[in-house]
Amino acid sequence: MSASPYIVGNWKMNGTRAMLAEARAIDRAAARYPGVQVALAPPFTLIQPFAEAAQAIATGGQDCHVAAKGAHTGDISAPMLADCGASFVIVGHSERRKDHGESDALVKAKAEAAIDAGLGVIVCVGETLEERDAGKAEAVVSKQVDKSLPSAEAIAELAPGRISVAYEPVWAIGTGRVAEVEDVVAMHAAIRARITAAYGDKGEGVRILYGGSVNAENAAALLAAEGVGGALVGGASLAAESFVAIIAAAGTESVA
Ligand code: 13P
Repeated sequence: MSASPYIVGNWKMNGTRAMLAEARAIDRAAARYPGVQVALAPPFTLIQPFAEAAQAIATGGQDCHVAAKGAHTGDISAPMLADCGASFVIVGHSERRKDHGESDALVKAKAEAAIDAGLGVIVCVGETLEERDAGKAEAVVSKQVDKSLPSAEAIAELAPGRISVAYEPVWAIGTGRVAEVEDVVAMHAAIRARITAAYGDKGEGVRILYGGSVNAENAAALLAAEGVGGALVGGASLAAESFVAIIAAAGTESVA
């Protein structure tokens, strides 16, 4: 398990240039928490200005195409993300799986394209409420991990920490209904087992983040839970005040 917690904001389809001031405030505050790795994934339109302004935090994309270039109107490739300053990309978010019909195989291909382009990657997985109620949560998520992660060959040269898995139960996203800590611990253990099955010892540096209604109040308990290597934060990452409170829950403020 990596030593420093990884706190990532996913702005989804939110933010115009007026929001850059908020991002800069997050960046300035993040610099006071050197033990926490902080990142933000703004919409495509803000990646370049945000990456140019950011000092302490990484900038990422929320999706990429599997191809490096070509006739794919409206899509953005992983090398294009890297070209405008992104250092990572989120793939397989449940909103993309649902809104765009993305399969595990497509998510895996996107993750491998991201790695080829030199980006870090956050692969999202998570069960629906129906799947949880049917007692299938662990099986569903384990299968997603097995089929969505980049192949062991694709990560042969990977630095530790370059790949993360985000466990985001679909029913906890944007609902204010956060998963119980004991359920998070159980699911992260199941995900860890699949990561080890995929990569063996090389998988030790793969962090598992929790996502779904993380906020200033619940962050400390979630981040302290066994196997939780960080958080993927939606709504609460849109304002510096709430996002910085989550960063503060993950680490200690430097006094320098
Ligand atoms: P919320 O934090 O708004 O629930 O969103 C979580 C999420 O989907 C992050 O990717």
